[in-house]
Amino acid sequence: MIRKTNSDSILGTNCRVSENVIFGTNVKIGNNCEIGRNTILESVLIGDNCRIGDNVILRSVSIGDNCRVEDNSLIGYGTITGHYKAQESQKDKEHVKIDEYKITLGKNVLIRTGVTIYFEATIGNNCWINHNAIVREKARIDDDTSIGSNTIIENNVLIGKRCVIHNHTQVCDGTIIESYVFVGPNVTFTNNSPIGHLRDVPDTIQLTNLRLGCAIGAGATICPGIEIGQEAIVAAGAVVTKDVLPRTIVVGNPARKIKDVDAQSFIKKEIREQYGI
Ligand SMILES: CC(C)(COP(=O)(O)OP(=O)(O)OC[C@H]1O[C@@H](n2cnc3c(N)ncnc32)[C@H](O)[C@@H]1OP(=O)(O)O)[C@@H](O)C(=O)NCCC(=O)NCCS
Repeated sequence: MIRKTNSDSILGTNCRVSENVIFGTNVKIGNNCEIGRNTILESVLIGDNCRIGDNVILRSVSIGDNCRVEDNSLIGYGTITGHYKAQESQKDKEHVKIDEYKITLGKNVLIRTGVTIYFEATIGNNCWINHNAIVREKARIDDDTSIGSNTIIENNVLIGKRCVIHNHTQVCDGTIIESYVFVGPNVTFTNNSPIGHLRDVPDTIQLTNLRLGCAIGAGATICPGIEIGQEAIVAAGAVVTKDVLPRTIVVGNPARKIKDVDAQSFIKKEIREQYGI
């Protein structure tokens, strides 16, 4: 059964829509698309050759050609959680106009099962967002970047091109990651030194910058307000409490320089040429 609650939906040629799909207002679907069972579409623009799985909710999102959204993903989460009062959350909800596209997915994007993407996030072309990842409000992820399973990209985070952010990693509000950066599994970013809550301390979110082509080893912790220099390497398990100079390797807790990065670990020549850097 195809349930159409609005007759203004536009469906391209050669599309397959499974049973129990709900069409809200302003739904436009390109050619050769598949929509899975129990999926809900509200204010959605979908390009050609896209596959949307079962039990997916797409709300206020524009999706480029050749994208795949796997089962149980929610793209279009509008409620702000955390330190917001219940009343404010309700107000935020009311301000969301469902007839605008608030989330953009580029072309050839793969969204794996169980992903949640909040309003005003932008995902570039050829990105992979792996199982159960969360991308919060106003986060921007540029082309060719992959986000690992169970990783959380918090609000306002900026991530450049061709980055890998591995599994189970927490990238907090206030983090800027430039292009070609590798972040290993279980890495923790932090943004606020006066630790704790319910205390009379000013809101002191400090920005963290990861410069072009740096690499962060598994399980490292990056303290608030740190800059990791271009092509620098942070060892597995390091606790970084001070800025790291470009092309240096730091290890330990607190992290200390042990040596310079050797030339083999610089960004590859062909990548530099391909991206013009
Ligand atoms: C930091 C790192 C790049 C150094 O590699 P390397 O240049 O081959 O260095 P070496 O193994 O020769 O080690 C140099 C010294 O640093 C120490 N060291 C290396 N890695 C360390 C670490 N993670 N923590 C603490 N000390 C470390 C070594 O014990 C050695 O000390 P020593 O001179 O007293 O014997 C590497 O050990 C590392 O941590 N890589 C990250 C791996 C990772 O997280 N990958 C994610 C992919 S899933």
